[in-house]
Amino acid sequence: MTAQPMVKAEGVHKSYGAAHILRGIDLEVAPREVFCLVGPSGSGKSTFLRCINHLERINAGRLSVDGRLVGYKQKGDKLYELKDSEVAAQRRDIGMVFQRFNLFPHMTAVENVMEAPVMVKGESKSVARERAVKLLDRVGLGDKGANYPTQLSGGQQQRVAIARALAMEPKLMLFDEPTSALDPELVGDVLDVMRDLAESGMTMIVVTHEMGFAREVGDNLVFMDGGVVVESGHPREVLGNPQHERTKAFLSKVL
Ligand SMILES: Nc1ncnc2c1ncn2[C@@H]1O[C@H](COP(=O)(O)OP(=O)(O)O)[C@@H](O)[C@H]1O
Ligand SMILES: [Mg+2]
Repeated sequence: MTAQPMVKAEGVHKSYGAAHILRGIDLEVAPREVFCLVGPSGSGKSTFLRCINHLERINAGRLSVDGRLVGYKQKGDKLYELKDSEVAAQRRDIGMVFQRFNLFPHMTAVENVMEAPVMVKGESKSVARERAVKLLDRVGLGDKGANYPTQLSGGQQQRVAIARALAMEPKLMLFDEPTSALDPELVGDVLDVMRDLAESGMTMIVVTHEMGFAREVGDNLVFMDGGVVVESGHPREVLGNPQHERTKAFLSKVL
């Protein structure tokens, strides 16, 4: 028997008003897997991540994280919407890193990383601080804890954002184009942190245009276009030998 998937999507649909964005997404992400999601702008990648993280409600299909339906519970063959507090509890287990780092500007790096465990989990400040210091060290910023976001480069801010997400001890990390807003020379440090995290066994879904990273670190790659999965497989296979015209056309632009 294979392990229960960390993420399982079955026929997931999402519309915004009349705009049908996700048109039946089926995929599975295994525990400890690095799952890369690529596709043209507007194909629904961010929308899908937002559905996994309960920031959006799906319109049809089933979506579960670690064996639990996202946003719903099932009794018999009926689905019931979870209460806001239950949704918040589910979301706590999922870390998300965006293109824009969204650090709190009035807090130092350490304070940014401490914030959620203290405010959301009610952790003591001393425990949260100790973990924050360790996490900043882990992302290569052991000497920057007292810096405010404006005193950090974009790449350093993004690494603080990763440490901040890890502070909640998530079982799943979602990355939405985490290096797209960075100057090229700062991308490598962020990818190194992500590679490290992958090696530590974190389950990760990574939306990225960094095909080198996908090839080296990814276990699986899905090419999405127009709200559907066009093709998927091992990154080296999909990138090296794409089967569909749409995949070929996309890769010819980004590779
Ligand atoms: N909150 C929203 N309301 C209406 N349309 C949206 C919203 N969010 C995204 N969309 C639309 O959904 C489509 C997919 O967007 P998105 O998931 O951001 O794609 P990607 O991340 O692949 O670039 C786009 O056409 C976008 O304009
Ligand atoms: Mg996006």
